[in-house]
Amino acid sequence: MSDDFLSRSRDKWRELPAGGEILGRAFSSDLLALDDASLMAQWQVMNEAARIPDVRGWFHCLYSDIFAGRRVIEVGSGFGFDGINFLAHGAHWTFSDLVLDNLNLVRRVVDHLGLGERASYLHVDNERSFAGLKSEPVDAIWAIGSLHHAPFDIARTETLDLLRHLKTGGRWIELTYPYERWLREGALPFSEFGKRTDGERTPWAEWYDLEKVKRRLFPSRTTTILDFTTGGGNFGWVDLRVDEINPDSVQSPEIALMGYPVTAMNQASLKASPSEWRLTCPPRIWWYGMSLGLAPAMQKLGSLPFPGLGYAVDLEIVVQSGSVGVVLAGEHVDDFVGRERVLDARPSTHRVTVMTYGAAKPSQLLVRNTMHGVASQVRIRSAVLRFAA
Ligand SMILES: C[S@@+](CC[C@H](N)C(=O)[O-])C[C@H]1O[C@@H](n2cnc3c(N)ncnc32)[C@H](O)[C@@H]1O
Repeated sequence: MSDDFLSRSRDKWRELPAGGEILGRAFSSDLLALDDASLMAQWQVMNEAARIPDVRGWFHCLYSDIFAGRRVIEVGSGFGFDGINFLAHGAHWTFSDLVLDNLNLVRRVVDHLGLGERASYLHVDNERSFAGLKSEPVDAIWAIGSLHHAPFDIARTETLDLLRHLKTGGRWIELTYPYERWLREGALPFSEFGKRTDGERTPWAEWYDLEKVKRRLFPSRTTTILDFTTGGGNFGWVDLRVDEINPDSVQSPEIALMGYPVTAMNQASLKASPSEWRLTCPPRIWWYGMSLGLAPAMQKLGSLPFPGLGYAVDLEIVVQSGSVGVVLAGEHVDDFVGRERVLDARPSTHRVTVMTYGAAKPSQLLVRNTMHGVASQVRIRSAVLRFAA
């Protein structure tokens, strides 16, 4: 099944983004057919377009010094615009790709530029290819627009194998497609979303937010260094420090919370059905509107499988007016056990995760009004409790 999927992907990714967002796409086999001088001229044109500040320039600037003298594995290196830049600034770089021609092309450019000494290559022949990679422990994994093109389970298998090569304290850096982009472009099945983002022959594209990247690495523990949207709203950037590596294939159980009883607070209006909680908050800022007691769900979740993990609730919320805060708390409402997330009204659904600080046990999930002078209105459509790393 995954071999079939990856062979369809291989057929797609013979054709790659040709630099920036202006040059369209090009087939590596066409470039490989050129003589050296024409190939280098063409690659330089693409590279110039790719490295403008608003596309790759900013992150080349940010990471060139960080990677100098360090080892990095790149997942899905395409035409090599990133790896070749970082090689030129002193990194040791392993290029990997599904498509042999893509790697052959990068190797020709690297050799022509005299950078071959610190470069190595891995053909991703199947989803376990990274398990067979012979490499010294590396300082970073670099996956720019690659792993989100495979179904989560395949990408997770690759991720767990990659983690075995990463040093404790190493970085995990990804460019993703954000949840908001997926919603905006029609909330399509992932087998269709790729056609919208990358063209007709694309077998898959999956949205990611920070928490979904972390779920792929679970139960390895991470510290978030960067998490933001870039590229005019089309891309997500996630940079994690991996503090404790545990490439165990165990995944967290997930307890759906819709259907558990919720309580209105401070005369808020609350309508609960098994598929939705509709809340109109009290009209005063900071006043609580709703509490969901977590004791039965926490019991069902069970005890922490590893020390150092915490708890998280993933929510899908439509904020129709005003602004609300969502937070995990202990027995008393002001005893927050994690950071509150504040969500302003917008037409599309928010996907948000509230988490505990470390292993603090949450007793309740609270929703409160966070806008002055407005009785904020929300619909909560999904809430799932799980362990977080
Ligand atoms: C959109 S291109 C991005 C190429 C390059 N990273 C860049 O930023 O221009 C996607 C790349 O990811 C690779 N890829 C797709 N799925 C992959 C997977 N499951 N594992 C490894 N590489 C993959 C493709 O071969 C292709 O080179």
